[in-house]
Amino acid sequence: MKKFNIAIDGPAGAGKSTIAKLLAGRLGYVYVDTGAMYRAVTLKALREQVDLNNPAALTNLAQNTSVYLDLDPGGSQRVFLDGQEVTLDIRTPMVSRNVSQVSAVPGVRREMVRLQQQMAQNGGVVMDGRDIGTYVLPGADFKFFLTASIDERARRRYFELKDKGYAVKLEQLKEEIAQRDRMDAGREFAPLVQAQDAVLIDSSTLNIDQVVAAILAYVRRGGQ
Ligand code: DC
Repeated sequence: MKKFNIAIDGPAGAGKSTIAKLLAGRLGYVYVDTGAMYRAVTLKALREQVDLNNPAALTNLAQNTSVYLDLDPGGSQRVFLDGQEVTLDIRTPMVSRNVSQVSAVPGVRREMVRLQQQMAQNGGVVMDGRDIGTYVLPGADFKFFLTASIDERARRRYFELKDKGYAVKLEQLKEEIAQRDRMDAGREFAPLVQAQDAVLIDSSTLNIDQVVAAILAYVRRGGQ
C-alpha cells in the first residue's frame, strides 16, 4: 500500500509532537520532529557562543553541523548533534528561548529543509513543524494545522516541564509562548501559517486520543 506523507503544523505547545508520534505509531510510519532539528542547531550555537544576531555565522554553523534523527518506526525519537546524542539537552528552557531567533535565519532553514525533504522522499512520514505543509512538503498527502488557545498551550507546557523537574512559572511560560508565536509567525522566510489545503484542528477542548482519532478517521476516509 502506498505510504502517505502527513504534515502537521501549528504553534508551540499545541500538542503536535505528541499527536504526530502517536499517529506515526498507529500507522507504522516514521515520526520526524523538525523542531528538534532547529533546537539541535541552536544548542550548538549556544555551546560555541556563536553570535545569534549574525545570520552569516549561523548559516555557516548549520552548514557544518550534522543533525541526525534516529527514525525508529513508532518508537521514540533520538536526536544526534555531530554524532553525540542531545535528545534531552535540546529541551532546556535556554534552547527554547533562543530557537526562534536561530530558526528565522534563511540559511539555517535551507540546510534543515533539505534534510527534511530527504527523509520524506519515500513516503511514510508524519512530520511536524511550522512550515511543513506550506514549504517543506507542499505536496504532502494530508495536512493538518493543530492549534489551541494560548492559555491551554501554556498550561500543557507547564505540566510537561514540571514533570521533567524544571521550576517554571505559568505566567512566564505564557509570555514566552506568545513571544515565540509572534516570532514564528512574523518572520519573513517560511513563517508559521496555515496551508490553504490544511485541515484546522483546535485542540483546546479535545484530549489527545480525540485528536488522534479524528486525524486517523480523516486519513482512512481518504480526506473526505
Ligand atoms: O516544535 P518546537 O517547539 O520544538 O520548535 C522549536 C522552534 O523551531 C520553534 O520556535 C520554531 C522553530 N521551527 C521552525 O521554525 N520550523 C519548523 N519546521 C519547526 C520548528
